[in-house]
Amino acid sequence: MLIRTMTLEDIPQVLALHEQLFNQSFNFIDYATEKDFYYGIIMEVDGSIVGYLVGQIIFEMSDLYYVAVDPQYRSLGYGRLLVEYFIQDAFDMNGESMTLEVRRSNQIAISLYKKCGFVPVGVRPNYYADSEDAILMIRKFK
Ligand SMILES: CC(C)(COP(=O)(O)OP(=O)(O)OC[C@H]1O[C@@H](n2cnc3c(N)ncnc32)[C@H](O)[C@@H]1OP(=O)(O)O)[C@@H](O)C(=O)NCCC(=O)NCCS
Repeated sequence: MLIRTMTLEDIPQVLALHEQLFNQSFNFIDYATEKDFYYGIIMEVDGSIVGYLVGQIIFEMSDLYYVAVDPQYRSLGYGRLLVEYFIQDAFDMNGESMTLEVRRSNQIAISLYKKCGFVPVGVRPNYYADSEDAILMIRKFK
């Protein structure tokens, strides 16, 4: 198992996984080219992509947009490793905090984020297209 920077060659595999899990498309190009503070990493097992994380690191502030693991590779600690890798990179770039939004119903992800030190700080009502609320969470580094 290894975690590495996302590249353009990874996009077809990452996109296939994303569409399967979230039922919608996503433009990964900026994340795979690290354009304008965009950040993307993938987790590889035996040459296959089994997870990914995308976000942004903007000086002291960072944002986690998506983290996902192939259903066949869940509960092995990979999701947590991806989030902790991102936190470490943001911290190493003089980061002070990281924020994210998560669906109120996504208790697995909320539990993962709490394990990684995030705390809920607010609610964004009707945040998602289907009107579900988002929980805003923050991880302070200092
Ligand atoms: C959320 C997700 C990335 C977790 O990945 P994972 O590799 O299975 O998670 P880990 O094995 O690293 O587990 C870390 C923590 O997450 C929580 N968790 C993971 N699976 C869980 C489950 N089935 N039930 C409850 N909590 C769970 C636990 O707190 C766990 O810590 P623990 O092992 O000490 O109990 C994965 O479930 C996923 O891809 N979900 C679909 C995409 C998604 O919703 N992403 C988040 C929003 S962008």
